[in-house]
Amino acid sequence: MSDTVALVTGATRGIGRQVAADLAARGFTVVVSGRDAAAALATAAELSDRGEVRALGLGLDVADVRAVAAVPAAVRDVTGRLDVLVNNAAAFVDWTEVASAADLDVAREVMDTNLFGAWRMVQALLPMLRESPHPRVVNVSSGGGSHGDEQFGLTRRGGAAASYGISKAALNALTATLAAELPGTGVLVNAVCPGLTATWPGAEQMGARPVEEGAASVVAAVVLPDGGPSGAFLRDGHPIPW
Ligand SMILES: NC(=O)c1ccc[n+]([C@@H]2O[C@H](COP(=O)([O-])OP(=O)(O)OC[C@H]3O[C@@H](n4cnc5c(N)ncnc54)[C@H](OP(=O)(O)O)[C@@H]3O)[C@@H](O)[C@H]2O)c1
Repeated sequence: MSDTVALVTGATRGIGRQVAADLAARGFTVVVSGRDAAAALATAAELSDRGEVRALGLGLDVADVRAVAAVPAAVRDVTGRLDVLVNNAAAFVDWTEVASAADLDVAREVMDTNLFGAWRMVQALLPMLRESPHPRVVNVSSGGGSHGDEQFGLTRRGGAAASYGISKAALNALTATLAAELPGTGVLVNAVCPGLTATWPGAEQMGARPVEEGAASVVAAVVLPDGGPSGAFLRDGHPIPW
């Protein structure tokens, strides 16, 4: 995997940062992107210092159309190629937000990151990914955007965190639709739920698992073998209900 290049969005903290670290540890060259360019550079430098790996920092707000349009040239300049796109960046409002009262300007911002951010990243980078012998797109989604999650599913939380759940349901739909467009191309496109993961204060008290475990769920979809599942919704490498 030493000449394999992965770009991770929202990689300066939380699950995205751990995914970047795990991929670097596996020998990937990792483009660590984040809204805060200085933090992305610092994270990349830290990962590079850990071993014989290459990690590169890139300032990137996935809701910024121009910034995303500039990504392919920036990646090609530095690494010459891209094999893996991990759409990890996400926005969340709060647990009091319900659909009937949601501020639609805020909801639109959530969609612009969680759905359109991932979508525009795919549109920008698919031409480069198609050049890869083992292209992978991993959309980091959530059971909160499904009907199958017994605890956090769309109909299981009394309408709470409405725009987040709706955006992840739409991201799941994007995943399935893209995969249906790309059979036979070698591009595997999957949605992954990392599971409830301790990335905010108090999460552990809610039963969240360590960030290493949530990130491992994402990495499992990155390292799928050729001919592996595409258009699936996965947690820890196993299909979960949409
Ligand atoms: N933690 C969980 O329990 C859990 C459960 C299910 C699914 N997930 C999913 O897993 C992924 C990572 O979650 P997390 O808990 O690590 O989240 P987090 O700690 O809130 O981190 C989110 C990351 O996304 C970045 N981001 C937000 N808007 C962005 C934008 N417009 N452009 C680029 N980056 C942006 C943030 O950057 P800033 O630092 O600049 O804000 C941050 O780095 C998300 O997709 C989330 O929905 C998490």
